[in-house]
Amino acid sequence: MWRIILSTAGKGPQNDAKRRDGLPKISICVIIEYICPGEDEEPMEMIHAEKLVYEYDKRDEEGNVIGRNRAIDGVDIDIPQGSFAAVLGHNGSGKSTLAKHMNAILVPTGGTMWVDGRETKDPEELWNVRQTAGMVFQNPDNQIIGTVVEEDVGFGPENLGVPTDEIWKRVEDSLRSVGMIEYRKASPNKLSGGQKQRVAIAGVIAMEPKCIVLDEPTAMLDPNGRKEVICAVEKLRIEKKVTVILITHYMEEVIDADQVFVMDGGHIVMHGTPREIFRRVEELKSYRMDVPQVTMLAEELRKRGLDIPGGILRREELVEALCRLR
Ligand SMILES: Nc1ncnc2c1ncn2[C@@H]1O[C@H](COP(=O)(O)OP(=O)(O)OP(=O)(O)O)[C@@H](O)[C@H]1O
Ligand SMILES: [Mg+2]
Repeated sequence: MWRIILSTAGKGPQNDAKRRDGLPKISICVIIEYICPGEDEEPMEMIHAEKLVYEYDKRDEEGNVIGRNRAIDGVDIDIPQGSFAAVLGHNGSGKSTLAKHMNAILVPTGGTMWVDGRETKDPEELWNVRQTAGMVFQNPDNQIIGTVVEEDVGFGPENLGVPTDEIWKRVEDSLRSVGMIEYRKASPNKLSGGQKQRVAIAGVIAMEPKCIVLDEPTAMLDPNGRKEVICAVEKLRIEKKVTVILITHYMEEVIDADQVFVMDGGHIVMHGTPREIFRRVEELKSYRMDVPQVTMLAEELRKRGLDIPGGILRREELVEALCRLR
């Protein structure tokens, strides 16, 4: 890769000299350098998959393998560092199988997956891949093991061999970032579903991953709990610049994503920004997907002849579009 650096030269006799017209003289310095791939270069993509395939063994009642079930079928995916990607899809479309490739819980049976430039199939990279990408699952009860919140959040860094002082710092910092610091001494059993899930997220964040993969983290929560978790994830993304991959069935949760992938039958069948995706209402329906309620309402009004733009995502946008009609 070539890198071009333009800079004004520092203070010196040459720069102090005045031009004949009295204006200050400015020297511009141009540096062109070639960076060998893999040397200084950070991979731009946090997640990169090419022709990814994953087949589960199909077994009979006695456990004998009787065939293969292709859950991921030729998926290409690119998720840049620091971005927010959402994955949507009907039950059984392959979302969780794809997510499990992002921290090498599963490794491809075909094609390749790289996480932060590391190939997940390489056994020597396993530890690094797992440290790079943290996973949060659907059921917070299965992810919390400590009897006190702060203890639970500290388990991850402790397992990584982080020094004690640093563990406490990370526990405090990550509980603060998910808005749970005042519950640090609480028992996780006493928390609501949304609070437990935020503790689970803090536990992952305390390991300082560059990327966090959330597989339907709000599926078991009430609307308030869902809001709490999504706000906490949004904050992490903005403040800690963590790459976020959110798998969800709730369309409202993806409207701030940089890109949305829709899966069906192990394939990526739609890909684009939320606005591009939700504009394609009929296609989404063909994959048994909904669109956000406000988008649906706007679409119905459009069909009835109102001059409203396609792909409306937020209530305020619809109100604005309707006000413009008068
Ligand atoms: N452990 C497994 N063994 C065999 N087949 C599996 C296994 N896990 C998933 N599958 C199959 O792989 C396909 C994809 O499943 P996956 O769990 O990835 O879908 P999903 O999109 O996450 O679904 P959901 O929305 O229900 O969570 C399905 O056909 C499923 O039955
Ligand atoms: Mg799933």
